[in-house]
Parts: sequence; C-alpha cells; structure tokens
Amino acid sequence: MRLAVAGGTGVVGRTIVAAAERRGHEVVVLSRAKGVDLTSSSGLEQHLAGVDAVIDVTSVLTMSGPKSVAFFERVTGNLLSAGRAAGVRHHVALSIIGAPEIDSGYYGGKRAQELVVLADPTGTVVRAAQFHEFGLQTLERTRLGPIAMVPRIRSQPVSTSEVAQLLLDVAEGEPRGEGPSIAGPEVMTVAEMARLVLAVRRERVRVIEFPMPGAFGRGLRGDLLLARADSHIGGVTHDQWLAEEQA
Ligand SMILES: NC(=O)c1ccc[n+]([C@@H]2O[C@H](COP(=O)([O-])OP(=O)(O)OC[C@H]3O[C@@H](n4cnc5c(N)ncnc54)[C@H](OP(=O)(O)O)[C@@H]3O)[C@@H](O)[C@H]2O)c1
Repeated sequence: MRLAVAGGTGVVGRTIVAAAERRGHEVVVLSRAKGVDLTSSSGLEQHLAGVDAVIDVTSVLTMSGPKSVAFFERVTGNLLSAGRAAGVRHHVALSIIGAPEIDSGYYGGKRAQELVVLADPTGTVVRAAQFHEFGLQTLERTRLGPIAMVPRIRSQPVSTSEVAQLLLDVAEGEPRGEGPSIAGPEVMTVAEMARLVLAVRRERVRVIEFPMPGAFGRGLRGDLLLARADSHIGGVTHDQWLAEEQA
C-alpha cells in the first residue's frame, strides 16, 4: 500500500513511518521539513498521487482555541480535498481521548478536525491518550530556567509504537467514521511524568503543578482524558518506556 504520513517527522509520526516501512508499505512523508506546508494546498495533489491512505498526525504548538481550530481545519481540509482529487480512499486522523468533551484551547482544534473528518466518506478518527513523551513535551513548552509550571492533568499515557500499530491496522481497513481509541495501562499526572523524565536525565528543574481554571481545567484533572470502556489498553508502562529511552 502507498501511505502518506502527514506530520511524519513528529513524535508519533516518526514511529508510524518506521512501522509502516516494516510492514512493507511505501511511505510518503508530508511535513515542512520535507518541503510540504500543509496549510497551503499548492502541489498537494501531486504529493498524494497513487496514495491509498493518509494518516494525519500533524500538530500545532498553541493553547489558543482559535489558532488550533484554524490550523486543524485548514490542514484537514487541504488533505481531504487534494486526497479526493488524487483518489485517496482512506483518511485517518489521530485525535485525543476527551477532545470532543473538552472542546476548548488546543482541544477545540482537535474537535474541529474530528468534525471535518467524520463528515467525509473517506474519514476515520482514532483517539489516543497522551503519549509517554508528553511529560517531556510539556516540560519543553513550560520550562523557564529552573522552574516548570505544569497544569494538573490526569492521563493514562500510552506508547507511540502501540498507537502507530493501531493507526496502521485502521488505515489498512475501510473508512469507518468513529474509530477505536487507545490508552496506556496506568493513570498518572503529567507532573509525575515530567518529574520522572527529569530524574532519569539528572536535570534539576522544579515542577510546580497548578490547576487550570474553569471547565477546561476540571476536564484536564478529571476523568475526561482517561481510557473509555471500549478503549484498547496498551501494555507499555511509563517505567518501561523510560528504561527504553535510557537504553
Ligand atoms: N503528544 C501527545 O501526547 C498526543 C496524544 C494524543 C494525540 N496526539 C495527536 O497526535 C498528533 C501528533 O502529535 P505529536 O506530539 O506527535 O506532534 P509533534 O511531535 O509536534 O509533530 C507535529 C508534526 O506536524 C508537522 N507539521 C506541523 N505544522 C505543519 C505544517 N504546516 N505542514 C506540514 N506539517 C506540519 C511537523 O513537522 P514540520 O515541523 O517539519 O512541519 C511534525 O511532523 C497531533 O495531532 C496530536 O493532537 C498527541
């Protein structure tokens, strides 16, 4: 199968590309580092020529709802319309467990993306909990010298390799609108994840956890980001992931 991975240079994208190649798929990576800016539709149809399925794992670094909505609607719209013209039969988008319910800030953009994908006959939405890498990603975004202010977020972190395998299984099948979701085996806070990464790296940063205000903050620290009754539960614990990272 010829597969395009939009965002194939990112944290989960790199893992998907490697796993797809191991399955024998021919992979096209779409990202700015590969010369493709998906906020523009220019030349996209040619990049998608002969592609059977697209897996979209692009992202934008923002907590602003309007910026997130603008990015995800635009990139998704461009991928779907160029895909239609090129004859792509399946578009799989990775969203986040809880994004439809939280529906504000960054998650507002994920919900907007989901709605566009769910309305398309070629679309499937897969939702994942935070990746094990999320503690580190949060530190990179919140660290100010020796201090990092981290919002209180309860999560059920999952390994990107297990997310990649699920996305590939889905992409190899037929479009189904609402697709499966996946989370990891244990519940922890993002501050705990950040402290564990810092300890392994022997970096001295004080992680200060704070509750975000309003319904948004209640969503983050409640149960909304955790596995649902029908979610796939991955087997890789945070400690196992940390040990692999160290090795
Ligand atoms: N991180 C998590 O814990 C988590 C959990 C569940 C779901 N998700 C979802 O999974 C997806 C991927 O997350 P991630 O953490 O792997 O993201 P990431 O590491 O930030 O990677 C983002 C990717 O998007 C590409 N990109 C950004 N702007 C682009 C543009 N204008 N045109 C083309 N490519 C662009 C980046 O490549 P260039 O910079 O080269 O353009 C990169 O390959 C996101 O949609 C996110 O919502 C993430």
